[in-house]
Amino acid sequence: MKTVLVTGANRGLGLGLCQQYFSQGDVVIGVCRANAEQADLLALKAQDEDRMHILHADLCSQASIEQLAECVQGQFKIDVLINNAGVSANEALGEWTQTAFMDNFLVNSVAPSLMCQALHGTLTSQARVIQLSSGVASIAQSDKFAQAPLDAYAMSKAALNMFTRRFALQCQTSKQIVCALSPGWVQTDMGGQDATSTVQDASRKIVTLIERLTIADTGHFFDENGAQLPW
Ligand SMILES: NC(=O)c1ccc[n+]([C@@H]2O[C@H](COP(=O)([O-])OP(=O)(O)OC[C@H]3O[C@@H](n4cnc5c(N)ncnc54)[C@H](OP(=O)(O)O)[C@@H]3O)[C@@H](O)[C@H]2O)c1
Repeated sequence: MKTVLVTGANRGLGLGLCQQYFSQGDVVIGVCRANAEQADLLALKAQDEDRMHILHADLCSQASIEQLAECVQGQFKIDVLINNAGVSANEALGEWTQTAFMDNFLVNSVAPSLMCQALHGTLTSQARVIQLSSGVASIAQSDKFAQAPLDAYAMSKAALNMFTRRFALQCQTSKQIVCALSPGWVQTDMGGQDATSTVQDASRKIVTLIERLTIADTGHFFDENGAQLPW
């Protein structure tokens, strides 16, 4: 039985990942904002309150991330940390705003970095640290998405990828595995209903992939099927 912490747990892919790990019998710590709609997480908790824990944090706040880490310390050792929470600005050239760039960087790149720092001491020696990145973060494949108005989002996820690589190198003396994963195009509030994958299918694929990762995979970037993506 593993202990898995997932951010952005109240909806979308984060909720799907919590449901998938919970259905496998793992201990799940779902992190969401205190004022978020949490009915689906509470339904899991009602099934087994020893295996479903709901903790609150606003990931835009370093103080809130540090308070979250204090709650985790002493109570849990984490086998899988999934930095899933994310935001996506849809602003085309001519509409760009400083606020959207800052929001995307705060949630998509700064928060996962601070989460890794705050929770580092609670990770098991063979923990897996997973960053939910995106195909649009790949500089090598940026031609594919050049027309999408996702500049702030793509830049913030490329920064997350750089953090992933750097953190993996910093964890190299341990057996901890640090990877960036692109989940594919998923039917969530962010992905929209035209997306090609359901939350359930994407969550199942991601959980399977995380279980198959080996130390040789650390510091790399994969799609939901386990194919390595170029930075
Ligand atoms: N869906 C796709 O097609 C797709 C494709 C590529 C990558 N991804 C990545 O996959 C991850 C999950 O995406 P999704 O589609 O499930 O997104 P989503 O449906 O929009 O859900 C985003 C989650 O992040 C949480 N969040 C945002 N800002 C937060 C903050 N400041 N503090 C705490 N939680 C915060 C949201 O909480 P609230 O409810 O409180 O807002 C929500 O739980 C993201 O990192 C996204 O970039 C998704």
